[in-house]
Amino acid sequence: MIENVVTPGDGVVEQRDAFIGRILDYVSGTFNTFAIYIGDRLGLYRALAEGGPSTPADLASRTGTHARYIREWLEQQAVARIVEVEDENAEAEARRYFLPAGHAEPLIDCSSLNYLAPITQLIAGAVRPLPELINAYKNGGGVPYSAYGSDLREGEAAINYPAFAHQLASEWIPAMPDVHERLLSDPPARVADIGCGYGWSSIEIAKGYPHVRVDGYDLDRPSIQQARLNAERNHVSERVSFQVRDAGDPSLEGQYDLVTAFECIHDMSDPVGVLRKMRNLIGEHGTVLVADERVGENFSVNGNDIDWMMYGWSILHCLPVGMVDSPAAGTGTVMRPATLQRYAAEAGFSSVEVLPVDNFFFRFYRLKV
Ligand SMILES: C[S@@+](CC[C@H](N)C(=O)[O-])C[C@H]1O[C@@H](n2cnc3c(N)ncnc32)[C@H](O)[C@@H]1O
Repeated sequence: MIENVVTPGDGVVEQRDAFIGRILDYVSGTFNTFAIYIGDRLGLYRALAEGGPSTPADLASRTGTHARYIREWLEQQAVARIVEVEDENAEAEARRYFLPAGHAEPLIDCSSLNYLAPITQLIAGAVRPLPELINAYKNGGGVPYSAYGSDLREGEAAINYPAFAHQLASEWIPAMPDVHERLLSDPPARVADIGCGYGWSSIEIAKGYPHVRVDGYDLDRPSIQQARLNAERNHVSERVSFQVRDAGDPSLEGQYDLVTAFECIHDMSDPVGVLRKMRNLIGEHGTVLVADERVGENFSVNGNDIDWMMYGWSILHCLPVGMVDSPAAGTGTVMRPATLQRYAAEAGFSSVEVLPVDNFFFRFYRLKV
């Protein structure tokens, strides 16, 4: 107990109590984040949506889970107002819980632009290497991407998939009309997708432009293995190939009409080296498209709509993965437009155009030779 820190009447008591309220809100949000993670990973929300009002035992038997845990989870979910309870005065085992209609799309519709459940998987991945993170904060160096495990890879792929499926080939690339035309024409255009993760951006480009050939590159072997499977399941593997490659690898060669980098330049220890490689891959006639976070133009404590979230990813994941190599640019998730412009100039581009695409999370940069 700290004595005599505050004196009634000086405003500090009110400030302290308001802050305590905020801390408790953060704690509540953290519990709910991991409760949603459990519900998502175990298929509990889908089973509730499909099966209608359920007792803990019903839900457990439909999902192959343990009834005592499911009872506790359902009670937590009801108190958190994520699910609703039909008969709260019934015995614990007899109470029936259901998913409100408006909660289904964000929790279970994996093709919807409103699908948010994967954010909880991303957070679970981002905190996986906490001891290594603390060590990096003390001693410098980075935390390798592999330390974040499959939750981070899967969460990233799942959260971005709906935007790639609904917007990439119908809004983002058409915002560059000449590139859109080139990708529709013959001879078939070639696209390289840098830092492609599970490959959804490469696959959706191939689906949207039925002649193009796409090469996806990523450093992370498990991501590339999954990307190949995703291409096969989507019947595009004849036109889409994936390779484990460092995007800055000097031996990476090719002549591409379009080279893309979705949400990955800020993760790279050497973003200028990678942009320079992208510049080489397009020769004098191709185009580089970088999609990265739509953070504010400048640091401001009021931030913009998303700076708070991007700083969250940055302190746990993006800055540490970008500090693995030495030297490291140390960009972090909050890559301001001026930073990208500086990197592009250092990599040999003559200018950067911000495309007129309305998107909550991404800003689109067309880098010109
Ligand atoms: C945040 S994820 C984005 C994945 C994917 N583009 C998406 O939007 O879902 C960043 C990806 O960049 C990859 N990456 C980071 N540095 C890389 C490099 N130097 N060369 C190739 N891939 C890299 C990581 O392995 C990871 O898959």
